[in-house]
Amino acid sequence: MEWGRYAEALAWLCLQTELNPTNLEAQALKNQLKKELSFTKEGNIVSSGNQTSKSKVSFFNWGQVAGMRTIKAKIERDILLPLKNREMYEKNNVSIPKGLLVYGPPGCGKTFIVKRIATLLNFNFIEVSPSSVASTYVHGTQEKIKALFEEAKEKRPSLLFIDELEAFVPNRNRGDINFHYQAEVNEFLIQLNNAHQNGIFVVGATNYLNLIDDAVKRPGRFDLKLFFGPPDIEARIEAFKTLLKKRAHHITNWIYIGEETENFTFAEINFVVEQTARDVSQKSKDFIDLNDLMKVIVANPPEFDDLKLQSYHL
Ligand SMILES: Nc1ncnc2c1ncn2[C@@H]1O[C@H](COP(=O)(O)OP(=O)(O)OP(=O)(O)O)[C@@H](O)[C@H]1O
Ligand SMILES: [Mg+2]
Repeated sequence: MEWGRYAEALAWLCLQTELNPTNLEAQALKNQLKKELSFTKEGNIVSSGNQTSKSKVSFFNWGQVAGMRTIKAKIERDILLPLKNREMYEKNNVSIPKGLLVYGPPGCGKTFIVKRIATLLNFNFIEVSPSSVASTYVHGTQEKIKALFEEAKEKRPSLLFIDELEAFVPNRNRGDINFHYQAEVNEFLIQLNNAHQNGIFVVGATNYLNLIDDAVKRPGRFDLKLFFGPPDIEARIEAFKTLLKKRAHHITNWIYIGEETENFTFAEINFVVEQTARDVSQKSKDFIDLNDLMKVIVANPPEFDDLKLQSYHL
């Protein structure tokens, strides 16, 4: 059944590419699917290595990353397909993305999805966070920035994830910035320009875009910018299900819970479930029901509303 659906999709993609040979996305999807189904050709007979195996075929297996369908679709189209079909895109003079910038409020899945992108690309994941105490990149000098990209080059293909990018390349117009940052921002730009040819895909993350140096945000550097807001209903439901799996409960009306928790971040959902579990155990009840959960939800409204979220776009 599963295999049949994919075979049907492949047939449709073959038709698409035949009718419209310049449709690179269809072409790339076709290649991807052929690989996933591991077709082999013997004589005139085409057969699939996966037909009898139990392995699940999927274009991109996002694993634990729930919801966020628009973001996932953009990542698939603009990053995963081009990077996995590099030669074909280059042959057709379609540019391959050089970098991705993810931004938005804390706890909304930026780091979570970037890690998954590295897995889906089969790239080595290198993470650097300037503010972490253990980081050698605190107050990174030019040399340290160079060394970081050198390390990523050695591990190619690699995804270099720079968390808190604003600490790395702060906006030079900010009054509180030391002049020595100038040299560091310049070094970063040089490295960023060469990253692509060195087999490095650079991903930067920040809470506020406007704290990052403008030169870093120009087109051709981080080609793609993606905003991560609080989880959508699908992701919220998934988060509640996952967290409640570990606890005894009588909850079935997941959609209702999803609808009642708009703008809740993952951290807030976590808090709601923990708090409910505490309340219930204090009442010596041995399971959680919808009422228990809703009481905590109503008493703890989310930090973000639409207006607050807008400030992250500035
Ligand atoms: N799409 C998702 N589906 C399920 N769980 C998710 C999803 N996105 C995030 N989470 C959960 O929320 C947690 C917080 O997400 P994450 O650390 O990626 O946030 P962030 O945006 O990087 O925050 P910060 O700006 O503070 O670094 C994750 O560890 C994960 O457990
Ligand atoms: Mg993060």
